[in-house]
This record gives sequence, structure tokens and C-alpha cells, in this order.
Amino acid sequence: MSKIKFLSLGKQPITNNFLIEQNPINEFFYDLNIVYDENTNVVSLENFVPPERMFNETYAHRASMSITMRESNKLLSENITKRFNPKSVLEIGSNDGIFLKNFPNIKRVGVEPCKNLADITNGVNIETYDNFWDLGLSKKINKIHGKFDLVYSANTISHIHDLNDALQSVNLILNDDGVFILEDPSLLEVIKNTSYDQFYDEHAYVFSVLGLNNLLEKTELEIFDIEKLTTHGGSNRVFIKKVRSNKKISDNVSKIINEELNMGMNKFETYQKFAQNVINSKNETIKIFTELRNNNAKIIGYGATYKSSTILNYCGLDTKFIDYFTDTTENKQGKFTPGTHIPILKPADGIDSKINYVFLGAWNFKKEIFNKEKKFIERGGKFISHVPFPQII
Ligand code: TMP
Repeated sequence: MSKIKFLSLGKQPITNNFLIEQNPINEFFYDLNIVYDENTNVVSLENFVPPERMFNETYAHRASMSITMRESNKLLSENITKRFNPKSVLEIGSNDGIFLKNFPNIKRVGVEPCKNLADITNGVNIETYDNFWDLGLSKKINKIHGKFDLVYSANTISHIHDLNDALQSVNLILNDDGVFILEDPSLLEVIKNTSYDQFYDEHAYVFSVLGLNNLLEKTELEIFDIEKLTTHGGSNRVFIKKVRSNKKISDNVSKIINEELNMGMNKFETYQKFAQNVINSKNETIKIFTELRNNNAKIIGYGATYKSSTILNYCGLDTKFIDYFTDTTENKQGKFTPGTHIPILKPADGIDSKINYVFLGAWNFKKEIFNKEKKFIERGGKFISHVPFPQII
């Protein structure tokens, strides 16, 4: 057997299942186990959760809710235009149009299986297919719109269970000299930061470049450049072309692959070591929360992210430890966190003068949050984060 389990993160709920009732009957849980494939170096969940349970018309995440994300998408669009000057763009996982809205003057098509989100972009004249990305859809779009110069997909390819099909579908829709840009959390950063919260139902895979490279070997596609990003706590923006296109392959590719090899990411022992770090992180997190609560600290959470669901459920952080969360996403407000049943309020009802500690569910937006919450910091308020190790900041 080539896939070996190295980490068990316990029973976990559907991260998007923000609850209307605090104590629902029949909440769905599954075993979140992580495996390493010795043949391909690919790290994935052991058991995939059926996509329809996760990506449906109740999908809560709205990418445009964060200033950081709005700004970075605008900048990226400008850079792509400068570097590749595409005449057409297809986005796989177009969410609320945060990326595509920056391309008003070229052919643009979105793919977004969550109908509530697809309705938003269809409503502003960005033609969007509310389907899952697969070969059937790729053929259909190809027939209607032809091929594309740019295929962009951020935080979506890692959600697709059948990667071979997903990549073949991109190959089919991409012009011969086209560019496929894929952006997903970096496994190297996850290992460096013990940010095990990147593992949750939607993230069927957390990619290393080593793993991606091996998967692409079975296709007519290859990596020609990589940029490291700070988004989502450390991601790779991977530039992919057809093998027959003569775009130059940047030195960045071998540089990052070597960095991963130096980290031992082609060895099972590295993942075993990471798993031990995760257990240590859990114990330390529980210790911090228990000590603070024993001293009657008032603790709330900031950003009821999907990622935080893994930490809360794995560490058993429920209403005994966290009074409530605040979140800017309207369709999370008034609901309860999956599995741990913590109320979610809107930020305006959030950090009042009695709060001493704020747990950073959205730790990847630390800079943006610290800027927003200067008053809390000035009056001595502290943040709790588990990254890169459990600490009070
Ligand atoms: P993400 O990490 O999956 O992008 O989700 C970020 C979540 O955190 C999203 O629900 C919005 C929320 N959030 C806040 O509540 N306040 C903030 O200042 C920021 C940046 C995010």
C-alpha cells in the first residue's frame, strides 16, 4: 500500500456547516485522517467527504469580505495582464467574482458549484457555470466559448478529488500557449508552521511542489514558474504551461523543489515528525486556554474560518473556553460553529471592554486584524494564536 496514515485529527464536522440551532440533532462528523503517498509524495485526506455536502447553495465563504484579498486579487490581475496579456480567462472556483471582476474587457467565464455564489457573478454579467469542474464541463465550455489563454484557480484544485480528471480538463480548455495558474496552500509552510488547520474537509489535498510535479507528469502540462505567497498562511502560485509551449522554465521551480527535498518532504519520517509537532501544539493550546479560563479570562474568537474548525474540534475548544466568535461574513453571523457550537456575532457586537483575549481563527489575516483592533491592543488586550506555535501575543 503506497498511502500511509501519519496524522489523526479526530472526529470533524463539515466546516461550512454553520449551525442555525446551537445543539442540532444528527450533526454529521467524519474521521479526519491524513495520509502520505510514497509513490507520488502527495499528501491527502484518507477519506474524502462527498462534495455535495460541502459545496452547495449554503456556502458561506465570501472571498471579497477581506480587504487583503480584494487588494491582492487586483494586483495579481494587473500583473497577469502585464506579463501574459490574455484575451480570455476562465476561473475554476470563481467564488463571488473577486478575481474575474478585474477583467471587464476580455472574455471571462466562471465555474462555481455553489449556486449562491454563481448567482452573484451571473448577476453582474460574468457568465458562471454552477457546476463542479470536470471533463464533461470542460468539453461543454470549450464547445460554447472555445479555448482560453488563461485558466486561473485559487484554492479550488486542492478541493477536487479526482485530480487526474481536473488536470486533463484544464489541458483540454487551455490554448497551446496558454497559462494555467494554480494557487493553493503550501505543504512546506504547513510543516514549517505546524499549521495543521490547513487540513479540513474541503482540502482533500495540501500540495507540495514535489507532489504536484509528479501528478503533472501524467499529463501534457508542466510547471514553469512558482511564486511564494503569504495568502492563507503561505501558499504557492504555480504557473503551468503545455509541455509543447516554449515558455522558459524559471529557476524558481528547481529552487523550491530543492527546498522541499532539503525539508525531507519525500520521506515518510518527516510527516511522522510533523504529526508529533501537531500533538505537542494541541497539548500546549489546551494548556493556554485552561490556565486563562481558570483565571476567569474572557476569551472570544476572531474569524470563524473553516481552518479554525479543525483546531476547535481537535483541541475540544467549545463554549467552555470561548464565549463567542466574531466574523465579518454575514451568513455566518447569528449561527454557531460546526461541531463546537460557539455563537458567531457580527464584529460590531464583538470586542467589548470585558474581553481580555482574542483567539485568532483568521491568523492568516493577523496584520489586517492588528491594524483594525488597535484600541483593543492599546488597552492591553491580547491575542492567542497556535501558529507557528501556541502563544499569547
Ligand atoms: P479565510 O481565512 O477562509 O479567508 O476566512 C476568513 C474569515 O475570517 C472570513 O469568514 C472573514 C473573517 N474575518 C473577520 O471576521 N475579520 C477580519 O478582520 C478578517 C480579515 C476576516
